[in-house]
Amino acid sequence: MTSNRRIIKAVIPAAGLGTRFLPATKAVPKEMLPVVDRPAIQYVVEEAVSAGLSEILMVTGRNKRPLEDHFDRSFELESALREKGDVAKLSRLDSPSSVANIHYLRQGDPRGLGHAVLRAASYVGDDPFAVLLGDDLIDARDDLLTRMTEVHGRHGGSVLALMEVSPDQISRYGCAAVTATGEDDVLRVTGLVEKPSPARAPSSYAVIGRYVLAPEVFTVLRRTGPGRGGEIQLTDALNEMCESGTAGPVHGVVFSGRRYDTGDPSDYLRAVVRLAWEREDLGPGFRAWLGEFVGSRTGLTAAPERLDAA
Ligand code: UTP
Repeated sequence: MTSNRRIIKAVIPAAGLGTRFLPATKAVPKEMLPVVDRPAIQYVVEEAVSAGLSEILMVTGRNKRPLEDHFDRSFELESALREKGDVAKLSRLDSPSSVANIHYLRQGDPRGLGHAVLRAASYVGDDPFAVLLGDDLIDARDDLLTRMTEVHGRHGGSVLALMEVSPDQISRYGCAAVTATGEDDVLRVTGLVEKPSPARAPSSYAVIGRYVLAPEVFTVLRRTGPGRGGEIQLTDALNEMCESGTAGPVHGVVFSGRRYDTGDPSDYLRAVVRLAWEREDLGPGFRAWLGEFVGSRTGLTAAPERLDAA
């Protein structure tokens, strides 16, 4: 079953409560927390745009204003910088919204990721579409979405992003039961369990925040009741699709690149340090400082290349 329907629509759920990051997320969505010098959500929108997804629906929650303002033009800022002739800062206002149409929809009650995706049903219609979690950051150099849309083009159905994690981590994720396909980084997904204990996990493959979904997922979500944590789980709907096969096969693309859960304070810090380290402009000064800082704390002089490999 191949699919020649080009995917142009992306849904970005960004309505979660962000309780792991309180109190920072009391009045500001976690997707707006800065990773170096731009909010996490900007990386996600840029990733969608570079994978050719030009129609974006953001499903937002109670604090949606900063998200909308961020992707809007700011005429006052632009004219102030233009008057000063500050071309460098002016270019930082370039927004992915100039090359994509970004729409917004309120989720209402945050009843879970499955519920947030279901809210996009009338926007998406009958075509396959992508879902990018707004707090999940994939390094731009480790293109994942393009590989997923390519696998979708060959197999149709739905395609999930999988990442191998250690047994003590699996209970933080949806976990996939898989079989081999003959292609190293592509697996057939035969079932899914949301946040299993290590003993109940069918594999070490965790589902991470990128999906290419068949539109039939909406029919399944409509009848999916609350699951783990009392939330409507996307994992439960996808598990039904794996078992019934009526919406085509479900495949997983195994990702082994750099990925950060910016909704988790520790992972967020890792994202900031690594991305700052690698920036051409800020990197040299930051690396020198970090090397000295680590050296002074550990009594070692940390060579920059050692830190880079960590
Ligand atoms: P999380 O599992 O990270 O939940 O959601 P959360 O509520 O946002 O964060 P914590 O656990 O309280 O810190 C995964 C993704 O699903 C979205 C979130 O915005 C995030 O992108 N989501 C979750 C919704 O859009 N709506 C929901 O009702 C729940």
